[in-house]
Amino acid sequence: MSGAQPLDGPLGRSLDTVLSIATWAHPADEHDRQLAALCVGPTLDVGCGPGRLTAHLADRGHVVLGIDVAPECVGQARERGAAALHRDVFDRLPGEGRWRTALLADGNVGIGGDPVALLHRLRELLDPRGRVVVELAPPGAGVRRGWATLRYGGGVVRPLRWAVVGADDVDRVADEAGLAVTSRHVFGGRWCAVLEEAA
Ligand SMILES: C[S@@+](CC[C@H](N)C(=O)[O-])C[C@H]1O[C@@H](n2cnc3c(N)ncnc32)[C@H](O)[C@@H]1O
Repeated sequence: MSGAQPLDGPLGRSLDTVLSIATWAHPADEHDRQLAALCVGPTLDVGCGPGRLTAHLADRGHVVLGIDVAPECVGQARERGAAALHRDVFDRLPGEGRWRTALLADGNVGIGGDPVALLHRLRELLDPRGRVVVELAPPGAGVRRGWATLRYGGGVVRPLRWAVVGADDVDRVADEAGLAVTSRHVFGGRWCAVLEEAA
């Protein structure tokens, strides 16, 4: 575990990763469905990518909105029938303070490169009874901040601030954001947790 790294200090161990949107273009698989089952009520799919989870949640009867900074992703999400907006999670969003779940699938706790700041922002978006469903890196990954290069179809490349949070660091990150871990899960090797308002 790399708990010695300050979360609010300079960038931790270097992170420079490549994320390819084609990786998430497939329909929701068994483990995606297990992750989605942790979502309750109206759900904001933050960094929805091509919308596989947004569409799956809609099929399950959720009120669900996907948001993504990449117009390519929003277009693909809409093509599969999902409601999606081209929006940064730090922009003004519909339903602020009323969402019951914020979903951070597939490492999206890294959005913005500062996991504590992201979780603070999600607390503004959520109803006080709300939850964050977060997918994490495996234990031992530590907390790393840096850059990701996102690759979209047609050769479009976008650099974004990114971070990684290992499953054994999630309590510390949640605590700094005023949240607590209320359950932990492993779905086919994918490490996930539910975060709720700390008592
Ligand atoms: C790991 S991929 C998404 C995968 C998707 N959640 C899935 O499981 O299929 C990360 C996504 O986050 C989006 N993203 C990055 N920064 C963002 C921000 N500040 N606000 C909203 N979306 C963002 C990227 O454009 C990218 O589509």
